[in-house]
Amino acid sequence: MPMKHSTYSVIIVGSGIAGLYAAIKLAQTAIAPDGILLLTKSALSECNSRYAQGGIVGVLDENKQDSISLHVADTIKAGCGLSDFNVVKFISENSQHAIKDLMACGVDFDKNDQNQLNFTLEGAHSVRRILHVGGDATGFGIEKALVDKIKNDKTIAPNITIYEQTLAVELLIDSHDNCRGLIAFNSATKEYETLYAPVTVLATGGTGQVYKYTTNPSVTTGDGLALAIKAHAEIKDMEFIQFHPTALSLENSDSRFLISESVRGEGAKLINNKGEYFMQNHPQKDLAPRDVVAREIYAQLSKGNKVYLDASFIGVDKFKKRFPNIYKTCLENNIDITKDFIPVSPAAHYCMGGIKTEVNGKTSIKNLYAIGEAACTSLHGANRLASNSLLECVVCAYELVNTISKQDLQSSNIIDETVLNTIKNYTETDSDCYDGYDVHELKIKLKNIMWNNVGIIRTEDSLLTALSEISKIDDIFVNKNKCFSLEEYELRNMLLVSKCIINAALNRKESIGAHYRADSTNNFSLSTNDCSADKSEGKADDSKIIA
Ligand code: FAD
Ligand code: SIN
Repeated sequence: MPMKHSTYSVIIVGSGIAGLYAAIKLAQTAIAPDGILLLTKSALSECNSRYAQGGIVGVLDENKQDSISLHVADTIKAGCGLSDFNVVKFISENSQHAIKDLMACGVDFDKNDQNQLNFTLEGAHSVRRILHVGGDATGFGIEKALVDKIKNDKTIAPNITIYEQTLAVELLIDSHDNCRGLIAFNSATKEYETLYAPVTVLATGGTGQVYKYTTNPSVTTGDGLALAIKAHAEIKDMEFIQFHPTALSLENSDSRFLISESVRGEGAKLINNKGEYFMQNHPQKDLAPRDVVAREIYAQLSKGNKVYLDASFIGVDKFKKRFPNIYKTCLENNIDITKDFIPVSPAAHYCMGGIKTEVNGKTSIKNLYAIGEAACTSLHGANRLASNSLLECVVCAYELVNTISKQDLQSSNIIDETVLNTIKNYTETDSDCYDGYDVHELKIKLKNIMWNNVGIIRTEDSLLTALSEISKIDDIFVNKNKCFSLEEYELRNMLLVSKCIINAALNRKESIGAHYRADSTNNFSLSTNDCSADKSEGKADDSKIIA
């Protein structure tokens, strides 16, 4: 089969906030003789970023209550001491610049009647420091401004080629461990293309879809991570999956719309069906770190109780103004917050781990970079502080551009045998053809296995059960290079990422942050955020332990 070959100076995979912002900054500052390619597997605006509600951290001079040291301390405490201090400090120090630059890109953060920025509060933040857009539509607001800029700014748009509905399926790594580009698959035409570039950036987001219940949209299947694992990049902290405590939980529905933590930040309280406000005994009450609140809710649900958010403490008018989308979505589901409690339960939300990188996105493979949720800079440690993720996307994308704009971005046409062999796999049609299994059903099966065994509470037995169940599904991908469809590639990636999470969870035998091992000898109460466990135990390079 003939295949199209193209060359760019930089390929960016993913059009969330990390990918879009990197593309804009590159187009503004770098000399990219062969242009920039922005490749995304769905529509340009579809991604996790679009659904972000609560906001983005900004440690701003004008916020007199706040300081870098407070934000650093909150981040490290929420992460149970596993964050990298220098990374946290760097990202915090750069937040002011990041916010101002987003505003220069057209992001319109919410302001009060005196035209001053509005700061809100979320779990484990000691002061109000979170900026938002459209009340509870922060991600949508930022994403829209960046997409508008990429499409309509005459100094930027001509430098960026956009491929939608196009999936990155394999990295081209040469015999010197140098990334030379990737193979892309257009899910509409089913055509493959070889894309060469001196720099490849994975901005492919997280892994939420490997779990039955998740706040993440369907595109979030861990693809970039799977590609990096296949390429033997270093992977880190995959045992740390954040379960958001409060997703809207409706009977007869597996989908989980997020009820932002800032709803609790503005005063809502958790209550069970017995009328008990069960977080009130915790020192931080309803605004304890996410892992703590998620386990408390899990404990309530395990006792057979139901859990709700009581938003009456906020006041109806304020709620409607401050959380218009949450109000509307609840109403569409027959929940009128003026008289009803909101039924909630935890759902997989964020992956603290990922492709191990420096703050500029540099991975262990030459000329391969990763930014945003796909990366692990060690900002978040064992549990991410709310609203630090969008900030990390912007600061790291900026640093990436600083680094690669100093590089020669002229492509070289010399490709070695290893790369040619990879490409050959996609020009041959035989043996990889679809052999009749139901990809959708297998995805559901995998998501159930992960939710039931590798969720909020884990044991060695549950993790080994998951591994053995998954290996039965995984058999279909043995000796298979090329898949039939986008969904089949996603399933392959989800399986790979799931095994990586399980292996990391098996390897870390103590409970810490979002990783709770019920069989740990180093166990502590479900309701504490005790960070005293031995943090060195079980640390390993996650990519090296795939079964
Ligand atoms: P994403 O925004 O997920 O973008 C990934 C992109 O990669 C998508 O365009 C996807 O289609 C594309 N892609 C993936 N695989 C491939 C492939 N193989 N080929 C081509 N393209 C591919 N964080 C905060 O800081 N504050 C919040 O208020 C907040 N609220 C949230 C609310 C919800 C409901 C969710 C789900 C998350 C929230 N988060 C929040 C987390 C935050 O939104 C994400 O961590 C962040 O947006 C990730 O951005 P990203 O650019 O790395 O990835
Ligand atoms: C939320 O609004 O609760 C989500 C914030 C986040 O994930 O950072």
